[in-house]
Amino acid sequence: MIDTPFKYDSIADREHFFGRTEELEHLGNIVKHANNLLLYSKRRMGKTTLVENFLDRQKEYICLYADIFDIASKEDFAQELLKALSNYEKGDLKSIVKKLTSLLKRVRIEPTIDPNTLEYSVKPVVATLRFEEMMEDFFGAIEKLSKEKPMIIAIDEFQQIATIKDVKLDAMLRKHIQHRKRISYLFLGSKRHLLTSLFSYKAPLYDLAVHFELKPLKPTAIYDYARRYLDITKEDIDYIYEIGDGETKMILHTLHLLYIQNKHVTKETIDEAVQEILHAKDATLRMLFDTLSNNQKIALKIVGKHKSGIFSTEVLNAFRIKKQTLKSAIDALMKKELIDKEGSDYFIPDRAFELWVKSLD
Ligand SMILES: Nc1ncnc2c1ncn2[C@@H]1O[C@H](COP(=O)(O)OP(=O)(O)OP(=O)(O)O)[C@@H](O)[C@H]1O
Ligand SMILES: [Mg+2]
Repeated sequence: MIDTPFKYDSIADREHFFGRTEELEHLGNIVKHANNLLLYSKRRMGKTTLVENFLDRQKEYICLYADIFDIASKEDFAQELLKALSNYEKGDLKSIVKKLTSLLKRVRIEPTIDPNTLEYSVKPVVATLRFEEMMEDFFGAIEKLSKEKPMIIAIDEFQQIATIKDVKLDAMLRKHIQHRKRISYLFLGSKRHLLTSLFSYKAPLYDLAVHFELKPLKPTAIYDYARRYLDITKEDIDYIYEIGDGETKMILHTLHLLYIQNKHVTKETIDEAVQEILHAKDATLRMLFDTLSNNQKIALKIVGKHKSGIFSTEVLNAFRIKKQTLKSAIDALMKKELIDKEGSDYFIPDRAFELWVKSLD
């Protein structure tokens, strides 16, 4: 992998993280008062990167970070929390195992080696335990731990708890969150309709977190950073920002290509870089597109073209589709999470996919 200052494909570390001064301050204020936060945005805006960089700076707190992106069961969820707990501290394995063993009643902790990095760490052994036992052990442990130091517990891709149907994870969490002291929860996610329904009026988590939408990085912040590595003007950055529609990943990917190709930055070379990104994804996107029904394909093109008013007579006529047909196709696309909704407007949350859809005739 070529060394690049533009981390579009992995989480930017401290050296490559920029902007977000106000956001870091906001997060700081939330945890200072042991409040909880729901941090949401479109895809790839930088939620995970912001929170990881934030946690990395918090020396007076014990920080846990769990990513529940791929949980398929309630047991997976409990296990991810326990994994996050096991990894809260780096250092001498023996004392970590000893410490965790003293905190946990039933879960056993054992050393493990990462086959990729060959680094040692510890992991929870939960095979024989029931879900309730794991949860009890986790919340018991953090209650004890939070007496030593205040804690921050970040749960990434939080909307995934809505996919677990056999227990009400949100109601369960409510009980624990309500009675916590000295613990802040940071919930992160991007699937807006799922997330907002989890925190909506009368839902168990209603009112338990301050809502905060992560906005795109400011073009001036991107410019200040990019000009350290590239001969680039503010106008170029504005142009890249416009094509990327503010999506951090797409913007960084474009800058990365300009950087490694060592090209003179102009509108033309920017366009070429964007084409290269779309071209590299073409096969995958095409395959994805081919799994859709014809009506869903039309619906997707409509959402790609029109920011609002997709059910207007004009649009329906132009695409020769009936309102009801379009409605069910839109619902199907929402379920597949290819599109999302804000107010009454629909959009394609992945900017590269959106540009690709727009490029279809
Ligand atoms: N402030 C920043 N400084 C430098 N790079 C950033 C910053 N924010 C995000 N990035 C980069 O942009 C990419 C996308 O960021 P990240 O994965 O954090 O977004 P996300 O909102 O969590 O996305 P998703 O919705 O897919 O979970 C990453 O590769 C990351 O390194
Ligand atoms: Mg993320």
